[in-house]
Amino acid sequence: MASRIFFSLCLVLAFALFTEAKDHPVGGTSDAWKVPSQPDSLNKWAERSRFQVGDNLVWKYDSKKDSVLQVTREAYLNCNTSSPIAEHKEGETKVQLEKSGAYYFISGTQANCQKGEKVIVVVMGARSRRSGADSPALAPSPSPSPNSEAEAPTVARTNAASGLKSGVMVVVGILAGFLMM
Ligand SMILES: *[C@@H]1O[C@H](CO)[C@@H](O)[C@H](O)[C@H]1NC(C)=O
Repeated sequence: MASRIFFSLCLVLAFALFTEAKDHPVGGTSDAWKVPSQPDSLNKWAERSRFQVGDNLVWKYDSKKDSVLQVTREAYLNCNTSSPIAEHKEGETKVQLEKSGAYYFISGTQANCQKGEKVIVVVMGARSRRSGADSPALAPSPSPSPNSEAEAPTVARTNAASGLKSGVMVVVGILAGFLMM
């Protein structure tokens, strides 16, 4: 019995890990990191998307002409490229969203940023299940729990798997565990 439960738990974990991390091409398509036809279209895409802790953002762009800067909110608003939090210029960039809250990205080409090549990605808190109604312009509180800052990333990641999807996975995992024994 104990080994059955253990096996089920392993399956649940495998399912959770397998289904959890998602790659999001920024802008919705692999070539969307460029001056958009509508200045706010990258943020429109971000508002429609659902980002969870552990997911990745991916970009493809011509490294000779463009780059991706992760910046503060202030630098985002001003298209200030002078001191980014992180700079990516390899042409293919992947950034893992390690915690909840807002991430700000701008084009390293300042003129492109000023024409709307910039995006705010809001990663949902572990227990936060709000829909796309949030305004990304407002700094979201990372989590309602006061000690959330101390939360280990692994805990946050496990919590992020909560909800209907992982509930289904738990049932599937346990059923599979029992069927296979
Ligand atoms: C850009 O950011 C840097 C560092 O935060 C700051 O010193 C500089 O004044 C800013 N430039 C503009 C034009 O806001």
